[in-house]
Amino acid sequence: MQEAGLIEWSKTNNPRKKVYIDECKGKKIQDIWECKDSQNPAYPTEKNRAMLRRIIAMSSNEGSRVMDCFCGGGGFLQEALNLGRKFIGIDESIEAIKLNRKWIRNNENNLFGSDVALIEKFVLNRTHQ
Ligand SMILES: C[S@@+](CC[C@H](N)C(=O)[O-])C[C@H]1O[C@@H](n2cnc3c(N)ncnc32)[C@H](O)[C@@H]1O
Repeated sequence: MQEAGLIEWSKTNNPRKKVYIDECKGKKIQDIWECKDSQNPAYPTEKNRAMLRRIIAMSSNEGSRVMDCFCGGGGFLQEALNLGRKFIGIDESIEAIKLNRKWIRNNENNLFGSDVALIEKFVLNRTHQ
């Protein structure tokens, strides 16, 4: 593949296979996406999970850190965790923070300590106002 020019090397010397659009199966993603939100949301403004996964997968790599500064019920953060990303979540609603604390506590074994600490710090700031 290297000799055929099918490998691209990253700045950190990782090989990546070049993939050309005409070799890909399926339809190219269009500019307008049709995504339906959940019928029974756990949080009122919960977003479509497949859409969130697509955004995370397209815009970051495994191990990257992503941020949702309006994290609501935490759909984006949960999908980030599932896709192997570190994350930061922020929300002004204490109800949103409570929901996020709950699922984070249930996933503590899969999480990076620093990410949990950031969210907990925000909760403490809110409760001291
Ligand atoms: C559409 S929801 C977020 C949905 C979420 N991104 C998801 O993955 O499902 C919007 C959230 O933004 C929060 N919000 C609105 N204004 C804010 C602000 N100025 N700072 C922080 N959070 C804010 C609201 O409390 C609400 O939970």
